[in-house]
Amino acid sequence: MLVLGIETSCDETGVALYDSDRGIVAHQVYSQVGIHAEYGGVVPELASRDHIRKTVPLIRQTLAAAGAVLTDLDGIAYTAGPGLVGALLVGTSVARSLAFALDIPAVAVHHMEGHLLSPLLDDDPPAMPFLALLVSGGHTMLVDVRAVGDYTILGESVDDAAGEAFDKTAKMLGLGYPGGPAIEKLAATGTPGRFRFPRPMTNRPGLDFSFSGLKTFTLNTADAHREDPAAAADIALAFVDAVVDTFVIKCTRALKQTGLKALVVSGGVSANKQLRAGLSAMADKLDVSVHYPRFEFCTDNGAMIAYAGACRLAGGAAEALGFGVRPRWPIDELAAPGSVR
Ligand code: KG4
Ligand code: ZN
Repeated sequence: MLVLGIETSCDETGVALYDSDRGIVAHQVYSQVGIHAEYGGVVPELASRDHIRKTVPLIRQTLAAAGAVLTDLDGIAYTAGPGLVGALLVGTSVARSLAFALDIPAVAVHHMEGHLLSPLLDDDPPAMPFLALLVSGGHTMLVDVRAVGDYTILGESVDDAAGEAFDKTAKMLGLGYPGGPAIEKLAATGTPGRFRFPRPMTNRPGLDFSFSGLKTFTLNTADAHREDPAAAADIALAFVDAVVDTFVIKCTRALKQTGLKALVVSGGVSANKQLRAGLSAMADKLDVSVHYPRFEFCTDNGAMIAYAGACRLAGGAAEALGFGVRPRWPIDELAAPGSVR
């Protein structure tokens, strides 16, 4: 089965081809970072417009790179949410129109399921059940994964997501967007132990996270050391230390609580080497295996969407290709404007 994956939920246009026998046979990501950098964050309308420009050319390039043509496709997977509505609509319309024209199934994919399953694209994938730590720009979650689609959220962030905390901290330290890679680079030059930041919500039971207090603590420390040019690197390191330690404490707790023997870590922040080192050391101690996506599949990409879609198509998922118009529509099914039914 050959599945085309299309990702347009935020600021990356990602397209990939997944072959159920050969794995990912081609993938392309176009990052809009250059467009949004001058605004210090993603501008939704600019994101949608750029997805319109890039999605179809990327599909052509990806097919060409794999030596495939449209009629070779057996299905199309697209990110249907969560994400920016305009951006999602671009990928959705392209995917569903193509699928309609080719008379093949289209399948809506949950962006976070894409991240969650991305380490399974590895040569040595973990078997389910496993614990998943999802750390992206929009979400931070610990999930008990029993099977594809059988997910129990054990804990999540009550405020900022981990990636968001990296991005905001980077801004405070005068670094560019996106902040994660910039903080990682700066932290590598910091002096260990100069500052110690709090490990939020680790002193009480539970598996939820909170990063906004840590962000404020970081800002106050940065303000108090504006005169010291070396402080930024030490602050970046103290921030990363606190984030990594928090994840180590919560993952240890979740693994002990569930008895699961494998940990999957995915989403943009899983590219962070210091986080990987901390979690791998923890996993060794607990005799648990730990799995990350390939670096190129940590941040948003089409490969994870193609793969998640292929899992769903293999399980029999099929969607009607219409856009929801209703030729027969009893008027008494209407609800008052704004009411939910
Ligand atoms: O998964 P992703 O590409 O998009 C969302 O689904 O949100 O994650 C993007 C986030 C950004 O906040 C970015 O700063 C963070 O991942 N990120 C990193 C690193 N690379 C990307 N955070 C820490 N260290 C990194 N190396
Ligand atoms: Zn993502």
